[in-house]
Amino acid sequence: MYKTCRDSKLYYSLRAAATGQKRPRNEFGNKVTVVLGAQWGDEGKGKVVDLLATEADFVCRCQGGNNAGHTVVVDGKEYDFHLLPSGIINPKSISLIGNGVVIHLPGLFEEGDKNDKKGLKGWDKRLIVSDRAHIVFDFHQIVDGLQESERQAQEGKNIGTTKKGIGPAYSSKASRTGLRVCDLLGDFKDFSTRFKNLVRQYQSMYPSLEVDVEDQLKQLKEYAERLRPMVRDGVYYMYEALHGPPKKILVEGANAALLDIDFGTYPFVTSSNCTVGGVCTGLGIPPLNIGDVFGVSKAYTTRVGIGAFPTEQLNAVGELLQTRGHEVGVTTGRKRRCGWLDLVIVRYAHMINGFTAIALTKLDILDVLDEIKVGIAYKLNGKRIPHFPANMDVLHKVEVEYETFPGWKTDTSAARKWNDLPSKAQNYIRFIENHIGVPIKWVGVGKSRECMIQMF
Ligand code: GDP
Ligand code: IMO
Ligand code: MG
Repeated sequence: MYKTCRDSKLYYSLRAAATGQKRPRNEFGNKVTVVLGAQWGDEGKGKVVDLLATEADFVCRCQGGNNAGHTVVVDGKEYDFHLLPSGIINPKSISLIGNGVVIHLPGLFEEGDKNDKKGLKGWDKRLIVSDRAHIVFDFHQIVDGLQESERQAQEGKNIGTTKKGIGPAYSSKASRTGLRVCDLLGDFKDFSTRFKNLVRQYQSMYPSLEVDVEDQLKQLKEYAERLRPMVRDGVYYMYEALHGPPKKILVEGANAALLDIDFGTYPFVTSSNCTVGGVCTGLGIPPLNIGDVFGVSKAYTTRVGIGAFPTEQLNAVGELLQTRGHEVGVTTGRKRRCGWLDLVIVRYAHMINGFTAIALTKLDILDVLDEIKVGIAYKLNGKRIPHFPANMDVLHKVEVEYETFPGWKTDTSAARKWNDLPSKAQNYIRFIENHIGVPIKWVGVGKSRECMIQMF
């Protein structure tokens, strides 16, 4: 029996998997390439996805909702995407919103219509939506605001959410009272009953919550018909994409590692898994189909909203990074907090995600600085700690150990290859690469598509 098994194709493919040997594509299907944020969001994921999407057949979102704001600049035109995968810009690729995403339907169609006016025609023909994705209702967004006010009143601080209803929608999902796309497209009477129950549940928690149920149901019925042609069984759709002819499949992470519900700076996080595990659960694909995992990090650090930020610079450096980097949230218009690059968090993101390479964006923003610092370790009571602290009180107390580099004081925005960069900038990049232990594949020196130096 054992011998027969050993001779079989299955045995060899399993053994190859276990020993990490290169596997023929057909044994496990196509591989997906994943792009994930390695900091607190807004690292430039949209730009990296856009770069890769020019050759992709599919671009998928697997988690989050329209709390994300991804900027893509093509031919001088700026697009911002929230629920639509940034690959929607490529007329030859299909975009997919997976089961792990929470969808606010008015938000989705507003976004599509806005981009249609900008010239992005036919987006709705290129979009596939998983029938297992949960719906964010308008009242989830109102509840998001109410919860923020409650936190402010009770604890003197809130999370600084995007108020897009993300937390409440994922709460409904976890408490098994949420409604999915398949429910909306099924028996509408049944959907209406469950919708009313859900509203009642929230109203019992928040008596001030007013919902015009009939008006909401009327709108939802209209959205259902607009959505229907795009909806598929997401698992089967992905299975076919993985096991059909060779295809380039891209997964666009939203939010980022330090905002991950499990691994981020809890409770100042979002409500989904923005790390690599979210790719499998949010699309219904096996881990063996995960190929390259690209981490995106700015050459410094930013954060929107509340929460610990050990390398934050509440001084002229922070202000310079904010203004030069135009660090304003794409979704909320809030100023982003700024500080030095923190390699402790990028290494932590790498521990969880296993990056195969990194895209280092916004190097050009550092061009004018006399000296540049990089956080390389955290100390507690004078002693280096090897891990990233889970407890926020501890994180607030850490002392950051920095490495200081001389600034290159040269405009890098026109650099298109490694040799165009000043040697001091090259040293900065090499240091980061060595410290994280992951190769840097791209360096960003400007907003547009061509401002990306490819290293290998
Ligand atoms: P995402 O959420 O990770 O997709 O990032 P955002 O779009 O929210 O924020 C990144 C911002 O930086 C956007 O305004 C981009 O246009 C811009 N950006 C990305 N890469 C670079 C770069 O290399 N240099 C400069 N100057 N801007 C960049
Ligand atoms: P992209 O994809 C930056 C932050 C919010 C807030 C916390 C919780 O553009 O990188 P939520 O509305 O998700 O409940 O807010 O998470 N946040 C982001 N910050 N970029 C994002 O996405 C973010 N998505 C959520 O500011 O602090
Ligand atoms: Mg963003």
